[in-house]
Amino acid sequence: MHTHQSPMTILDFPKRKALKQKISMITCYDATFASLIGDSCIDCVLVGDSCAMVIYGEKTTIPATVEMIARHTEGVRKGLGNTFLVSDMPFLSFRKGLGEATDAAGALLRAGANAVKIEGITGNEEIIHHLVNSGIPVMGHLGLTPQFYHTLGGYRVQGREKSAAERLKTQAAKMQEAGCFSLVLECVPEALAGEISRSLDIPVIGIGAGREVDGQVLVLYDLLGLTSFKSTFVRKYMDGNTLVQGALDRWCADIESGSFPSESEVFSS
Ligand code: KIV
Repeated sequence: MHTHQSPMTILDFPKRKALKQKISMITCYDATFASLIGDSCIDCVLVGDSCAMVIYGEKTTIPATVEMIARHTEGVRKGLGNTFLVSDMPFLSFRKGLGEATDAAGALLRAGANAVKIEGITGNEEIIHHLVNSGIPVMGHLGLTPQFYHTLGGYRVQGREKSAAERLKTQAAKMQEAGCFSLVLECVPEALAGEISRSLDIPVIGIGAGREVDGQVLVLYDLLGLTSFKSTFVRKYMDGNTLVQGALDRWCADIESGSFPSESEVFSS
């Protein structure tokens, strides 16, 4: 059984890696779930741009905007307490020069994030360096980077071919060099993810990246069984669909039968 420890700070990320203590990260988009997560033993929360898909029903993360992520970050921070919070820099928000990238990252920190996450390294080195030197910690994201959906030709495991694996190792080293404090590695073969993790000083947090990394992240609604998304790397810890649908159907039946509201659920005059 986990005990509730004091919240992680940026300084704990390398320490946890050195001590071989795994890091847990979960996505969250609203204050209600944030409050449950804040009371759990989860180390770190991500307001992912998966928000566009999970909350807004989009097919990819590409429609996410800085305003959207900032608004959800505000809500999450209100429920979360002091748990370490990372917010995603959405599609193109860091590709239009230092000024716009800094404004976008600043908006996310002002909304309550402790750090931002950036997908990809090519062409982002200077921006990551600048943000870190401006007081904005940056988490990198490599492997299956969903903002590259159209370039990658869909959602598929990355780094299977030798040349792609070598490219990924070089990119991971560059993320660390640019100043990232940790790295998300998504949908990468286990052995390659392990090799990358062992080659870096910063912790690697995997999603579909196997067991040899320094931590794990999942999308909250997948873990709770609230989405229909199925993948090798998702473990459902409850059957959210059945539970929620059951509750709604029972309420409907109670309305029809007249058993809702009961005497104790009405205001007397
Ligand atoms: O947006 C997101 O939810 C993510 C995680 C899957 C890592 O980037």
